[in-house]
Amino acid sequence: APGLDAVARKKGMRFGSAVSANPRGGSFDNPAYAALLRADCGLLVAENEMKWQHLRPAPDRFDFAAFDRMLGWGERNGMAMRGHNLLWHRRKWMPRWLEVQDFGARPATEAARILTTHIRTVTQRYGTRIASYDVVNEAVTPDTGDLEETALSRAMGGVEVTLDLAFRTARAAAPHAELVYNDYMSWEPGNARHRDGGLRLLEGFRRRGTPVDALGVQSHIMTQGADGHAGVLAQQDAWRQFLKTVSDMGYGLLITELDVRDNGLPVAIGPRDRGVAEYARAYLDATLAFPQLRDVVAWGMCDRFSWIEGFEPRADKAARRPCPYDEAYRAKPLHAAIATAL
Ligand code: XIL
Repeated sequence: APGLDAVARKKGMRFGSAVSANPRGGSFDNPAYAALLRADCGLLVAENEMKWQHLRPAPDRFDFAAFDRMLGWGERNGMAMRGHNLLWHRRKWMPRWLEVQDFGARPATEAARILTTHIRTVTQRYGTRIASYDVVNEAVTPDTGDLEETALSRAMGGVEVTLDLAFRTARAAAPHAELVYNDYMSWEPGNARHRDGGLRLLEGFRRRGTPVDALGVQSHIMTQGADGHAGVLAQQDAWRQFLKTVSDMGYGLLITELDVRDNGLPVAIGPRDRGVAEYARAYLDATLAFPQLRDVVAWGMCDRFSWIEGFEPRADKAARRPCPYDEAYRAKPLHAAIATAL
């Protein structure tokens, strides 16, 4: 069967996946995982290696070794690499040193210096080798839709000025690159506040002339069992309306982190994998109906390495099955569903 990227290319789209440099993750050093990437992917994204915690262990020290190795591997295999991310604007994902940083007598100036140094250092190092960046990741608090404060935004005197500075700095330092705001507002009914908050943020970017090109829809989607499933499918109109509002503002769209949480589905693997595949198919059909949607990136190709199992283990203790391939690297119905939807 042709790989997913080959299927996507026929429509002028691309398919890709997250990859790790950690031997316990979905690593390009693991020949079996690397084979899945080669079979299906034209695009890669570092699962963790470009985040501040990894790239910048201390305020004035950068460590590019892991990411450089990954980028080199991708290039040798003809794959493009997305940059994820230049600022994960949530307290719990900032490096410890940044949260406890003493910004001195002129906190706004010092915080801006730390932020712009980061963005310039990373984007200038990679130049045109990276054509698309998640400049800001997850600035909206899901429960309220409000913007989240961090040590940086408190020092700078506001969240909007902080995010605007991130995008402006990225535009100036990497004028060739697509600049993305990336977040996990999704089509589940419980996500309405998050979506509304996202829309307010995107409207604000346009009003202030902040250079943002596209919305990255993470797409960590979640089945709700047979009943809830129907409830979510009934929400498709709200989801289409959301994507229409975003694209009417002139934003492009990307699916940046697709995986499927199999909540409420039977433990038996056959029906569970089919439930996951059907759910993803419905989601992809609704979302790919927008011609603005160009790239589809999975957050890992293989159940064996998915972050979901550690982040939210299944209540019934069955191992989660969120990815296109199972723990033995065999293609699942989700793989076929993506190929059909593309
Ligand atoms: C996750 C990684 O998969 C984990 O290994 C890490 O411990 C935490 O981050 N949204 C994002 C991704 O934007 O960067 C997150 O990745 C998953 C949720």
